[in-house]
Amino acid sequence: MINDRRKFLKNLSKTTIGAAAIASTPLIETQAATSQANAANLVNVALIGVRGMGWADLHSFLKNADTRCIALCDVDADLLATRAAEIEKKFGNKPQTFSDHRELLKVKDLQAVMIGSPDHWHCIHACDALAAGKDVYVEKPISLNVEEADLMVKMVRKHNRILQVGQWQRSDRHWIDALKELKSGSIGKVRQVKAWADVNYGRDFNVVPDSEAPKGVDYDRWLGPAPKRPFNKNRFHGTFRYFWDYAGGLMTDWGVHMLDMVLAGMDAQNPKSVMAIGGKLAFPNDAAETPDTLTTVYDFGNFSLVWEQFMGMGTSPYLDDVSEPGVAFIGEKGILAINRAHWKIIPLEDNGKYMMTPMPARRSWDSGLDAHTKNWLECIRDRKDPNCTIEMGRNTAVVAQLGNIAYRTGKKLEWDAEKRQFSNDTESNKLLKANYRAPWALPKV
Ligand SMILES: NC(=O)c1ccc[n+]([C@@H]2O[C@H](COP(=O)([O-])OP(=O)(O)OC[C@H]3O[C@@H](n4cnc5c(N)ncnc54)[C@H](O)[C@@H]3O)[C@@H](O)[C@H]2O)c1
Repeated sequence: MINDRRKFLKNLSKTTIGAAAIASTPLIETQAATSQANAANLVNVALIGVRGMGWADLHSFLKNADTRCIALCDVDADLLATRAAEIEKKFGNKPQTFSDHRELLKVKDLQAVMIGSPDHWHCIHACDALAAGKDVYVEKPISLNVEEADLMVKMVRKHNRILQVGQWQRSDRHWIDALKELKSGSIGKVRQVKAWADVNYGRDFNVVPDSEAPKGVDYDRWLGPAPKRPFNKNRFHGTFRYFWDYAGGLMTDWGVHMLDMVLAGMDAQNPKSVMAIGGKLAFPNDAAETPDTLTTVYDFGNFSLVWEQFMGMGTSPYLDDVSEPGVAFIGEKGILAINRAHWKIIPLEDNGKYMMTPMPARRSWDSGLDAHTKNWLECIRDRKDPNCTIEMGRNTAVVAQLGNIAYRTGKKLEWDAEKRQFSNDTESNKLLKANYRAPWALPKV
């Protein structure tokens, strides 16, 4: 159970939120944001999946005036009760609690829903909320597979709701400034982009035996559409992300954040082909299914993208920070390198002369997460598309998922973005599809 700030931050820092966002996301709020609530302007929000990132998202959102959390949903009853009590203590109102998200969606005057459940639940949670007329903030990756991602785009547009994807670098001045510099053309034509998540955690993920699910956990509902199997602590809270039934390892975890910035910087959407090599090279006997070492190469036509990931080996190429995922745009005159801590330009040389002015490392200085949840609130009020639309979330999730499929099949795959399938391998196309366990079924548009 996570019940204090230190443990909470320690736990989150092992995942993708990163130091920059945490630094200005205080857990203990001293005053309720709703103290001067203007009833007409008040946005009532609920959270589905209350443990890790969902909890950080909700707190970030509640920093804004005229917002109120009126309902929480989780399959872990003890955690749910703790979270409800925490909200009451900090903000003065006790949210209603639910284990079934469909019941939560019936709460009167509920306008918006934040989703912090594991990846294999995102599509159902988001689509049910959209169909119930709610605006949605859904964590990345938006889906477990390409079929779900495409369906979610249709759902948002059909129901005309405001959906923000949790790829918060889209609202972070640090990344916005760097991408502006990139688009100024100062580094020249970019022929290659490198992106990476070389993290120093993940060295001690030991195999443990299956066991009974913890008391108060509705384990069948946690599994939901995923295949039935006995409970195992490794596959549950937090570390579910290293098992294919629920997520896609570092690629869909950190990768989605960095790949999103590649697509934004290069104004790109769809790769033409992808291939991958890697495996469980560092920790062959640990509990994870997803690779600890992976290199994925994409052909986008006008540039190539090299993605690399390492567990238990923290580097940040081109920058001095240890264990910071990042992106380097390799231009003909210079390299623009960025991670969540810094960005800088390394000029290339010709005949002993710099081809452009060097730019020393600049520090990140604001909370991207707070800017992102604020942007969602403003868009809810103004009925405008937010900074990270469902299409942006879909494009990035798909790039990451194609990389994982290339790794799992060991094939070079040609992507037909129009037909939403690989043009050269029918077998691999099966991995693009959702495969739900009854009674759960793919939502209908
Ligand atoms: N944007 C970011 O910076 C960022 C950072 C970390 C995680 N994430 C994303 O957030 C999501 C959650 O990751 P996490 O590390 O917080 O996971 P977590 O395991 O800590 O929390 C997930 C919560 O969802 C609950 N849950 C599971 N099934 C549910 C259901 N059917 N109904 C209601 N609740 C349910 C779990 O009990 C748990 O409390 C993932 O998709 C992850 O990729 C995003």
